[in-house]
Amino acid sequence: MQRLREPKPAIVGTGAYVPAKILRNSDLERMVETSDHWIVERTGIRERRIAGEKECPSDMGAAAAMMALERADLQPYDLDLIIVATTTSDTLFPSTACQIQQKIGARKIPAFDLQAACSGFLYGLVMAHHLVAQETYRTILVIGAEKLSSIVNWTDRNTCVLFGDGAGAVIVRKSTEGGQMISHDLGSDGSQGQVLTVPAGGSRMPLTAENIGEGLQYIQMVGKKVFRLAVDAMESTARTCLKKAGLPTEEVSYVIPHQANLRIIELLAERLNLPLERFFTHLERYGNTSAACIPIALHEALTAGEIRPEEKVLLIAFGGGLTWASSLLEW
Ligand code: UT7
Repeated sequence: MQRLREPKPAIVGTGAYVPAKILRNSDLERMVETSDHWIVERTGIRERRIAGEKECPSDMGAAAAMMALERADLQPYDLDLIIVATTTSDTLFPSTACQIQQKIGARKIPAFDLQAACSGFLYGLVMAHHLVAQETYRTILVIGAEKLSSIVNWTDRNTCVLFGDGAGAVIVRKSTEGGQMISHDLGSDGSQGQVLTVPAGGSRMPLTAENIGEGLQYIQMVGKKVFRLAVDAMESTARTCLKKAGLPTEEVSYVIPHQANLRIIELLAERLNLPLERFFTHLERYGNTSAACIPIALHEALTAGEIRPEEKVLLIAFGGGLTWASSLLEW
């Protein structure tokens, strides 16, 4: 029998949306000098979803949000705040969050975007947790929505095989049910920012014909360095988060890590001394969807019945910035 729980900030609904168009490794073989064998062996990715030309993060985020609301048995007018984590906002401004407020028909509640690259969703989740705990807001929608295909250089084999588009959403409110939040850890290191960046298009380097010619409006990544930093940061944030909760690593039933590379996840499992079977992956189907990875994965794991009552679930993210984040939940 499940024990009675105090009402605490919890994830009470999840939703996900991925575009219909599938780009397979075999398609990429015709675009750049690569092979299905290299991509699968070095990353674990087999295919990714690509948004339509006019399909934006706000469209994908709104679809995921409506699903999360329905699963929480709530309506858009129940929401008190919208936080959207994205690196690929529809427009520089207005924010994607404001566009989602309008698209889902929410009241005129606060809505803002949050930029912490691939860690953005967990940054938003932690904000939501505290705002609900302090009773500043009752019901918060947190979304991770990305159209990375719009900032990928489709002639650069080092990066174009890695990324995909999609959105995931959760509803956070006080509840005795759902995934109650136990502890979190967030961090950043700006000194390593140049290893993963989109140099042009911001105020430091506004778009010009010259920098567009050099492809500086696209993701630039020092892959090997990012790989090493990712493993170290994810291990360290996971350990800090568990320490805050006073929970031994082996009591984690399920891990949802950022979905950048299967080899990163394998190394993380080894370092945390947890069996790989406890780690959820969907990167073979979606690639790296940045801030959308974790909420999509959480939704898929829950709907597949992979997370059972009273199980402790650890979410771990890493991204440009650098940024990292982790969050421990109990279902
Ligand atoms: O969201 C967080 C951000 N992203 C990450 O966490 C990504 C972290 N990094 C990685 O996942 C890996 O470093 C990559 C998948 C990006 C690259 O894998 P790697 O094993 O580190 O390969 P590498 O960059 O050292 O390249 C090895 C070789 C190179 O050829 P040479 O110089 O040895 O002749 C590359 O040019 O593989 C070549 N290569 C490719 N070959 C076929 C690089 N990309 C490709 C490709 N197809 N797509």
